This record gives sequence, C-alpha cells and structure tokens, in this order.
Amino acid sequence: MVSLKEVLKGKLSDEELKLVRRSFDIIGDIAQVEIPEELKSKEKIIAEAIMKVHKNVKVVVKKIGPTAGEERIRPVKVIAGEKRTETVHIENKFKFKLDLNKVYFSPRLGSEHLRVINQIKPNEVVFDLFAGVGPFAIPAAKRAKKVVAIDINPYAIKYLKENARINKVENKIEAYVGDCREVVKKHKWKQKADRVIMNLPAHSGEFLDVAFYVAKKGAIVHFYYFLKEEELFEGAVKKIKEAEKEYGRKTRILNKKKCGQLAPRVWRVVIDFKIY
Ligand SMILES: C[S@@+](CC[C@H](N)C(=O)[O-])C[C@H]1O[C@@H](n2cnc3c(N)ncnc32)[C@H](O)[C@@H]1O
Repeated sequence: MVSLKEVLKGKLSDEELKLVRRSFDIIGDIAQVEIPEELKSKEKIIAEAIMKVHKNVKVVVKKIGPTAGEERIRPVKVIAGEKRTETVHIENKFKFKLDLNKVYFSPRLGSEHLRVINQIKPNEVVFDLFAGVGPFAIPAAKRAKKVVAIDINPYAIKYLKENARINKVENKIEAYVGDCREVVKKHKWKQKADRVIMNLPAHSGEFLDVAFYVAKKGAIVHFYYFLKEEELFEGAVKKIKEAEKEYGRKTRILNKKKCGQLAPRVWRVVIDFKIY
C-alpha cells in the first residue's frame, strides 16, 4: 500500500487532504482508491496524481459499493486511464488475470496465500472450496499431486482456468463451477482431501460439513472466519468443535492467527486444524 496523502500534498487544500483515505491498493496495473463523497469533484486530480507518481499504474478505479453477494465482488468504476477493469496481478511469482468487476480479489492476502502454499507436500490432494481466480489453488498445484478448485462464480473459474494455463499447472488442476457442497457430493469425493482451504470468511462456518465430508483421516483444514475483537479466537474454535460433535470425528487445532482487518475491531482470522 502507498500513502495517497503524500502524493496529493500541494494539489488539495489541507481540509480536503484530511478527507483523503490514507492508502490504496494496486492490483496489477490498476490502482483502487476510495473517494469520499465530499471529494467527488476532485477525483480526477487524485487519480491523475496517482498515475503521475506510479508510472506502472495504467488505470485508476474508485470503489462504488461494498463487497457483496455470493461472489464477494466489490464494484469499481474507472476514473482515469485506460477504460478497463481487467488486469494481470503478480503474487508470489505467479500471474493472475482477473476483472475487478467480475471476481473477488484482494492483493492483501499474498503472505497468507504463501504461508499455506509453503506447507503443501508433493503427494497431497488439495481441495480449495472457494477458489476465486486461484491465488491458493494455482501455486498449490505447482507443489501438490492434484488440486480440486471450486467456485460458484463462473467468471472466477474462467479466469482460474486461464491462470492455470498461464502458470503451466493445468494438468494438475480440476476446476468446477458451482456451490462447493453440491459439486463435492455430486462427485462423491468422500474422504479424498489431504488439505482443505476454506477462504470464505463471511460464511465458511456454514460449510464445515463439506470440509468434514472431503477430508481424509489426518487432513488439514485452513478455516477463515471474521471475528470481533472480543470473540478472538473462541468464536471460530466453537464452530469447529460443534462440527466435530455433529460429524463424529475428532479435530485438533494446530494454529490460530489474525490475517487482516475488515473494520475497526473486526478481524479476518485463520484456524488451521486437523480432522481425524
Ligand atoms: C473471499 S473469496 C476467496 C477467493 C480466493 N480463495 C482468494 O483467496 O482470493 C470467496 C470465493 O468463494 C466463492 N463462493 C461463495 N460461495 C460459494 C459456494 N457456496 N461454493 C463455492 N464457491 C463459493 C465466491 O464466488 C468467491 O470467489
């Protein structure tokens, strides 16, 4: 992230500068900014200042709504530069083609993606239940025996397949469009996974049955969840313990950590656990 205020010093009044959000994300060659309503008339100045300082930025978009819907898309509008919302983002040396208005993508999860990927061993079968454009699934396929990647958003799977080709792992990835529960049951993949990735923090608690269904004895699950400060980490552990009882299999918590902030006092957390 880059300080937007630094870029805008001298171009906006001190009062206006106070309204500018502190930082912005760069995804591929697209800068994604938040413009408060009071600065709407200055959005072009803000966008052009960004492009002047960051020569690699070819498009500036502003967020025009919250992350929403099953597909977890955060809509954006182009305010400067080329008229497109598709780009290629490089993360951990892998290339990810994506369209900000068609799929979920956060450039802030790179180190978390890498933490999980680094644990994968060559003989593993990995299930990524909420795969998006593949930031876990594609690097995982470089290391694992096989990756099953599922997403309900057809655009996410279209990009994931293209990204598999770009990164030369298409022979190790099976990609499916659909609700992960339906896809997994349809293919009768009972106890097939050595590792299950569940990055849908707003709803992953509702899909623990899917993880328990595909997990082999000894499989590791990476369970992402949103928690308020006062619920850390019990709110998420409670969900896992409830599932343990419901599905009659033991679990062991391996690791729990914060991996990003959603709002003041609200965290994205990950719990890694084993299913026996
Ligand atoms: C938070 S994104 C995570 C994407 C990717 N794993 C990442 O780390 O960037 C969650 C994804 O889950 C997908 N999704 C939501 N509900 C789903 C469901 N029931 N079955 C499969 N995918 C689902 C969304 O379309 C979205 O791409």
